Amino acid sequence: NTYVVIMAGGIGSRFWPFSRTNYPKQFHDVLGIGESMLQMTANRFADICPPENVFVVTNKDYEALVKEQLPHLTDNQILLEPVGRNTAPCIAYASYKIAQLNPNAKLVVTPSDHVVLKQSVFTDVINEAVAAAAQDDILITLGITPSRPDTGYGYIQYIDEESTKIKKVKTFTEKPDLDLAKMFLDSGDFVWNSGIFIWSVQSILKAFQQHLSEISEIFDEGISFMNTAEEQNFITKAYSQCRNVSIDYGIMEKVDNVYVLLADIGWSDLGTWNSLYTINDKDDSGNVVDGEVMLYDTKDCIIKTPKKHLVVVQGLEDYIVAEYDNVLMICKKTEEQKVKEFMADAKSKK
Ligand code: GDD
Ligand code: MG
Repeated sequence: NTYVVIMAGGIGSRFWPFSRTNYPKQFHDVLGIGESMLQMTANRFADICPPENVFVVTNKDYEALVKEQLPHLTDNQILLEPVGRNTAPCIAYASYKIAQLNPNAKLVVTPSDHVVLKQSVFTDVINEAVAAAAQDDILITLGITPSRPDTGYGYIQYIDEESTKIKKVKTFTEKPDLDLAKMFLDSGDFVWNSGIFIWSVQSILKAFQQHLSEISEIFDEGISFMNTAEEQNFITKAYSQCRNVSIDYGIMEKVDNVYVLLADIGWSDLGTWNSLYTINDKDDSGNVVDGEVMLYDTKDCIIKTPKKHLVVVQGLEDYIVAEYDNVLMICKKTEEQKVKEFMADAKSKK
């Protein structure tokens, strides 16, 4: 009864220029290990559920990429969105579709741009969460011990009762500002939301009805079209009516049956240049280099350029130097939140 929903429709704008609208980061071999982030994600569930229970939700523009990278998926396992409406509609679509196939399904919903280093711990943790979600009407997220006041994450405060491993959540705050994030970190009371969720399909449908009813009403009408030839038509219409909202703002911040399972799984979100910098080995000057590069008086930089160019850098400290396709970006590491803007501006220039 366990199903996996891989969300792979984001455009990864904080990873520009490496992540491009026509080739977002989840399809790249970001770590240089011969597997894309999407393939790594799918492989992570090999021991958790049979391959026919894995569903990928993505934009219709990425259909060919998904098929190429996960050739064992059938067409019915690839859910195509006509437009990106963030994670709430994505999860609604998958939930209604899977509910139609199996009303007793337990879902594991996962982003496609994370690294999990401790595979066997991950498998155990997911199995434990699935078992708990099968028992109770609860929404479970995996919690990660925070290491910096990152404003890109959800912060979770939980009720710490020794006796239970899966803890009741007191507050869920999505993407706090920097002051709040610092406070959360200093208090030692908070964990990050990993963005990996576990729940029964009935529990999440109920949460949609209660907190995002405008979305559940749209999908309620289409349940009989799911897994039929009419599905795609219905979805095109449904998405034109859905607003853009993430599951975190739309549901996790609002419901009172959220639980967190603290998971020491070697997790990192490869969402930004700094996160890639953090998880990679550095040279003696603190640089992370991928490409043909000559460095002089340069430290604490992350430099990722195509092998075809020899890149010479002198006198830079704490910079991102990233070249991909026809774009070269040079940006202070501390200013990486601007990368999203650069991508938007570059698009409007075309
Ligand atoms: N199919 C589909 N459609 N997938 C999407 C869409 C969409 O419209 N938008 C985003 N995704 C995918 C992304 O590709 C990614 O794998 C995942 O959903 C999460 O979206 P992000 O845009 O990366 O979310 P975030 O990083 O800002 O925040 C989430 O993850 C953090 C941990 O990495 C939140 O859940 C935070 O609370 C959490 O801390
Ligand atoms: Mg992310």
